[in-house]
Amino acid sequence: MIGAGVMGHPVATARLVTLEQENKMSIKNVATIALATAGLAGFGAVAHADAAAGKATFEEICAECHEAADFEGEDAKALTDSIKKISAGQMKHKKALKLTDQQAADVAAFMAGGGK
Ligand code: HEC
Repeated sequence: MIGAGVMGHPVATARLVTLEQENKMSIKNVATIALATAGLAGFGAVAHADAAAGKATFEEICAECHEAADFEGEDAKALTDSIKKISAGQMKHKKALKLTDQQAADVAAFMAGGGK
């Protein structure tokens, strides 16, 4: 979901607009990302989801069985919830996970972005 706002932006269109308009567009994209991040921050004690940190966790623990691309476009908050439940032993999962809430949010942000 977070990635969609940025990735869905057609480059061909951007080339046609003036520099000024392009700047406005970038600002809008930044605002979209900020809002998406704020949405995660509003959940529990997680202050900030860091997709880069999530990438490291994903590659270390999850990549053995999952492809981040499979989760592309999923709701990061819902994904965070699922990963927290798995970590708390409240959701059935092939491998027992022991992630902190912060790690869950980070890895969810990375996965929801499709691993890009
Ligand atoms: C040993 C293999 C394995 C590892 C390692 C693994 N998973 Fe999974 N996971 C599965 C399988 C199998 C499923 C169920 C089938 C599916 O949805 O792909 C699953 C399902 C899930 C789901 C979907 C749950 C649902 O039903 O909504 C999430 C979210 C998930 N895994 C997150 C993770 C995360 C995050 C990690 C790393 C921290 C991870 N998994 C590591 C095997 C694994």
